[in-house]
Amino acid sequence: MANPLDDQVALVTGAGGGLGRAQALRLAQDGAHVVVHDRDADTAKACVAAILDAGGQAENAIGDVTDFAGLRATIQDVERRLGHIDILVNNAGVGGGQPFEEITEAMFDEIFRINAKAPFFAAQAVIPGMKRRGHGRIINISSLVALRGKANNPHYAVSKAALIGFTRCWALEYAPHKICVNTVVPSFIATPMATSAFGADYIAERGAANPMGRLATPEDVAKLVAFKAGPDADFIAGQTLSANGGEYINAMCLGAHRQQVLRQLRPIARTRR
Ligand SMILES: NC(=O)c1ccc[n+]([C@@H]2O[C@H](COP(=O)([O-])OP(=O)(O)OC[C@H]3O[C@@H](n4cnc5c(N)ncnc54)[C@H](O)[C@@H]3O)[C@@H](O)[C@H]2O)c1
Repeated sequence: MANPLDDQVALVTGAGGGLGRAQALRLAQDGAHVVVHDRDADTAKACVAAILDAGGQAENAIGDVTDFAGLRATIQDVERRLGHIDILVNNAGVGGGQPFEEITEAMFDEIFRINAKAPFFAAQAVIPGMKRRGHGRIINISSLVALRGKANNPHYAVSKAALIGFTRCWALEYAPHKICVNTVVPSFIATPMATSAFGADYIAERGAANPMGRLATPEDVAKLVAFKAGPDADFIAGQTLSANGGEYINAMCLGAHRQQVLRQLRPIARTRR
């Protein structure tokens, strides 16, 4: 039986990490040849091995997304060898976690360079090929923090909000070329990014506070990415969609929970100085 992404090529940045690996596995399961891009060679190779073990198609591309010329060269090399890149998932990102008054210019620049500037130039590099083919999907991985704000992380929040802005601009500019650009917004998920910054008690509390009684998983996000990449999303452009079990509306409605979250973040931020 045909798979929804047969004969398509997807490039996922940060695909060695928690969310990116799940996205890469799911896109491969749906039939895509996946280019697993990450600066961490070990995790990228492990992701490729998992895809190949499952009978899928994948290759790794080791590099830093902030090496804009290097990423463009990788994209051009894939296009030369495989003919096209149909799907770009701008997933690579780093957290911040500093109180506003302690954020240095170097911290601000680094987070914007990885989370916002790199997706900008990655998209610029894949667009010409997608235009030639008259088909493409760009999926930007933002964060709920971009929508609702967060204490002790304004630079991260706004770097992620930038992706929502890019999505809307690119969606308008490239819809005539049948290139659909969308944002996927994960909620809090216990990947290495989260577990390196928060303790087990806090993570358990966040899961319990979710209206569905659990944290989102990388697979919850991967399902949404696969939908946005697939044929059923061929008329969806410029949208921001989240799989969060109701966490977003819950936090907006329940001030007590929000205050609780803020109280818990302050001591954590102090320990990270
Ligand atoms: N985990 C969460 O709670 C959460 C919530 C909302 C949004 N997100 C977003 O999801 C995305 C994935 O996060 P994650 O939780 O899987 O984090 P993670 O730390 O598990 O994985 C991130 C991956 O990106 C790679 N990476 C980081 N900087 C890179 C760079 N400059 N060049 C190349 N690769 C780089 C890392 O090596 C790692 O493999 C990020 O953009 C993050 O902001 C995560």
